[in-house]
Amino acid sequence: MVADLLSKGFLDVPIDLSLDLFQEINKLKKEKNAVILAHYYQEADIQDVADFIGDSLALSQQAAKTDAKIILFAGVHFMAETAKILCPDKKVLLPDLKAGCSLADSCPADKFAEFKSKHPDHLVISYINCSAEIKALTDIVCTSSNAEKIVESLPKDQKIIFAPDKNLGAYIKKQTGRDMVLWDGSCMVHEIFSLEKITKLKNQYPNAKLIAHPECEAAILEISDYIGSTSGLLNYTEKSTAQEFIVATEAGILHQMIKNSPKKTFIAAPPNNSCACNDCPHMKLNTLEKLYNCLKYEQPEILLSAELIEKAKKPIIRMLELSAQFGL
Ligand code: 13P
Ligand code: SF4
Repeated sequence: MVADLLSKGFLDVPIDLSLDLFQEINKLKKEKNAVILAHYYQEADIQDVADFIGDSLALSQQAAKTDAKIILFAGVHFMAETAKILCPDKKVLLPDLKAGCSLADSCPADKFAEFKSKHPDHLVISYINCSAEIKALTDIVCTSSNAEKIVESLPKDQKIIFAPDKNLGAYIKKQTGRDMVLWDGSCMVHEIFSLEKITKLKNQYPNAKLIAHPECEAAILEISDYIGSTSGLLNYTEKSTAQEFIVATEAGILHQMIKNSPKKTFIAAPPNNSCACNDCPHMKLNTLEKLYNCLKYEQPEILLSAELIEKAKKPIIRMLELSAQFGL
């Protein structure tokens, strides 16, 4: 029965339209001792019903320390998988199992194992946006908020493979001066920004600060005033005296930026397509309705083998230990 209902990747159960989903979800959270962790790229309603909103590092730190029985991850598959790896005894739920990631998909484990075997003396640093199988082939996991510090903490002569994001990898190479071997992967959302349209927008708003996520291509990063993780970008907009910002990352982050700085103006950087949308199609598969059903029926659940969990856990723990040392 549940298997049939899950064939689309989510629980396709009709919902009583008269229900106040905010109220119902909050009731279910209490009844079931569940916590909702949401990424900044989720739709506004999901961010508003979450217990904790954060970037990839903060969400994994939160997952590692929660004492809730159930973690409902409002994000994409690799994020929920990371929570399961850190908390194998908890039930970890993802509203839509098809909420994947183009960046994680760009790095299949068999191809990566082959690539790794060609560089046997290299240490592997993998961006958290990868599958559990890739994490199992990794020495240290990183996120966009700690990647630079992690690379810098290694001895200067340490040879490094950086996977799977070539744009973040190239940015870290530039920042640290390290000659890392990069896997050729990228994020479909951050690769689509148009340099031409952004340049025009900068001319139109000469006082605006261009802020970008390091998953963007080098040409965009080169003309940016600030580069950082989603949390970094959010903090920058709060602290900066500037009043206008062109934001080159997934548009979901604008919800918190507007909430935290209601008097400032935020413009989503334009992509190189006709629909002018920079939503992540994977992140946006989650909806409040799917989230409600997911919590009510406790499905879909993330399940991983104990062997995979054991192998994938070490590089994530290493990242959390290093981040604590860096005060992150
Ligand atoms: P951060 O929130 O860690 O900056 O990651 C951005 C991202 O692309 C998540 O999929
Ligand atoms: Fe993956 Fe890019 Fe979507 Fe983040 S924004 S989940 S990196 S496809």
